Amino acid sequence: MTPRTDTPATRRIPLIRPTIDDAVKQRVLAVLDSGFLTEGAVTRDFERAVGRFVGAQHAIAVPSCTVGLEIALRAFGIGPGDEVIVPDYTYPATASVVSIVGALPVVVDVDPETMLIDCDALEAAITPRTRAALPVSLFGNPLDYGRLDDIRARHGVRMIEDAACSLGAAQGGRRTGSACDAAVFSFHPRKFITTGEGGMVTTSNPEMAAWMDAYKHFGLTAATPREGATFASMGTNAKLSDILSAVGLAQMDRVDELLARRRALAARYVELLDGMPGVALPRTTPGGTHSYQTFCVFIERRDQVMATMRAQGVEAQIGTYALHRQPAFGNPATCRLSGPMPGSSRAADRCLALPLFHDMTDDDQRHVARTLAAAMRTA
Ligand SMILES: Cc1ncc(COP(=O)(O)O)c(C=O)c1O
Repeated sequence: MTPRTDTPATRRIPLIRPTIDDAVKQRVLAVLDSGFLTEGAVTRDFERAVGRFVGAQHAIAVPSCTVGLEIALRAFGIGPGDEVIVPDYTYPATASVVSIVGALPVVVDVDPETMLIDCDALEAAITPRTRAALPVSLFGNPLDYGRLDDIRARHGVRMIEDAACSLGAAQGGRRTGSACDAAVFSFHPRKFITTGEGGMVTTSNPEMAAWMDAYKHFGLTAATPREGATFASMGTNAKLSDILSAVGLAQMDRVDELLARRRALAARYVELLDGMPGVALPRTTPGGTHSYQTFCVFIERRDQVMATMRAQGVEAQIGTYALHRQPAFGNPATCRLSGPMPGSSRAADRCLALPLFHDMTDDDQRHVARTLAAAMRTA
């Protein structure tokens, strides 16, 4: 490794940097040398690794979390005439996928402290047309799975978790990805395990898993020899190539270490920010273990502070988006916004994500904290 000669004051500190070690490169090279580049045995290994890790019986690799969410909705037969409840504070893909399958996204507010879907609002938004909810374990903060179980049991709605950012989170003894009817992870480069682009659906429902597996392979019911292939239903091509799976699989070999490191870095931020005037921390769901995909703070004058930090080389970032402020969700014919969204508005105005990546040094973290404090004094 080349020794670092830069100091924190001159170094640009990115929001995240993927952990691509020699093992990743070797695995990718092995796939390239094999001559078999599409989805195959390496993707099957990657699926098994993720399924085992989260505690789900089935894992289905897909090209992105967005595509995985769409396929999960289709697997549960959700389409035109159906309503699906989503949180207002999330990446827009959470709601877009509901429209893509022809259903109506019904948007509800989030809890101002956890920034996760407000379960009372979720329950209040259920109508006879509601088929599912798409709660998001945002930033690695797990959902309250006991509460979601209860809503599912009393109202008969499916729970499909948008777990894009929460590999490794857990709540009430259950890992994210094992608690809902299905969950979908992202391996976009902003995630601590990345395949460049990629995603994984996990479920313990064998019928749904078989449907999704066939659907993503053109509707093929089994990987039979070419002459025996049966296309039992319409399907698409949503495979994840062995090249990309090799990148993810090599990182899954280190997943416990990578997660432990993120949690240690988050704990260090908590120490560094303790008592800093004007800085508040989001709340972790009771009984939950955060994966710290994203480490956030709540501050006033967020945009000014963020601009100052970025001008000084610290790549602070907004948390995510309030859907009700985005034009895409403003047409009542295609999206229902249920009531005012004070929790989401607060998060959208005040949430700031700080850099956090595996080989971040203590100097880096102290520099981020100092830059934040200075930017807040001048904002
Ligand atoms: C909550 C949430 N859902 C969905 C997505 C989309 O994931 P992908 O880029 O893998 O499609 C993201 C992306 O960051 C996200 O944060």
